[in-house]
Amino acid sequence: MRTFQQVSAMRAYMRAVREDRRSVGFVPTMGALHEGHLSLIRRARGDCDVVVVSIFVNPSQFGPNEDFSRYPRDLSRDSRLTQEAGVDALFYPEVEEIYPPGFQTFVEAPQIAKRWEGEMRPGHFRGVATVCVKLFHIVQPDRAYFGMKDYQQLKVIERVVSDLNIPLTVVPCPTVREPDGLAMSSRNVYLDAASRSSSLTIHRALKRVEELHEQGELSASVLEKTMHDILRSDPAIQIDYAVIVDSETLEPVESLEKKGVALIAVRIGSTRLIDNLVLGGKLALPVKNHA
Ligand code: PAJ
Repeated sequence: MRTFQQVSAMRAYMRAVREDRRSVGFVPTMGALHEGHLSLIRRARGDCDVVVVSIFVNPSQFGPNEDFSRYPRDLSRDSRLTQEAGVDALFYPEVEEIYPPGFQTFVEAPQIAKRWEGEMRPGHFRGVATVCVKLFHIVQPDRAYFGMKDYQQLKVIERVVSDLNIPLTVVPCPTVREPDGLAMSSRNVYLDAASRSSSLTIHRALKRVEELHEQGELSASVLEKTMHDILRSDPAIQIDYAVIVDSETLEPVESLEKKGVALIAVRIGSTRLIDNLVLGGKLALPVKNHA
């Protein structure tokens, strides 16, 4: 596996790859890799000749009171995992390489970024969109792999790629879960035993909504009330939002006539967790057991 910290070196490698007409799959990450990330990497490995992974804890997508400084970092472990997964090139720039002195151009996030995570985390998607566009320009992949775990992020990136005519295909990948249903996340390491057990309530709320939906319940208010009731039954959980929205526009819906998605964001102690479940269509995926 080749490793690069400089944009110029990464670009030179990618130029050589393109001259050989090899297809490129790109998986942007913030590191602290887990099975969720590895599932994206495996998918890219299956689809493309060359797989590039980036590890960059992007300061511009963290708010001033968020966890940028304590975000888990373990480059030697990540490097071993990417190597074992057959990654061809790992790009792990320093902050100054991506945001050198004088940097001042940002991508304005689209309308779809305004609600939910966008509202709870002002500036978050501006930072995500900006770093992704920069990374897309540096790597110039044919395909970029994003997890449905961060459903709104996936939709924001799809919009940005389309609006800015970036010549790549965004490939959505299913959420990978722990055997008990908790969506894998680098932030799960923050959870102590009690919070870890509370975190299961999120999955329980989503599964109940899925069950009711499968039994024919289409009313968003009924399904939202179900989620709220289940989440509220656990006093350790503070709800940021638990909503039923259109799966493309992420606008609230009254009834699930079209494909929808249940979006949940909660805080358990000082840890913020998000999860979602697509309702209807073939993207409603079962829990994967990685035991
Ligand atoms: P990060 O949280 O490291 O996630 C990197 C990619 O892995 C994202 O596409 C995310 O949706 C996906 N992912 C995370 N957990 C997953 C899970 N349990 N199942 C499937 N996929 C999962 O998302 C980011 O980093 C950043 O915002 C980034 C896009 C890299 C821009 O900085």
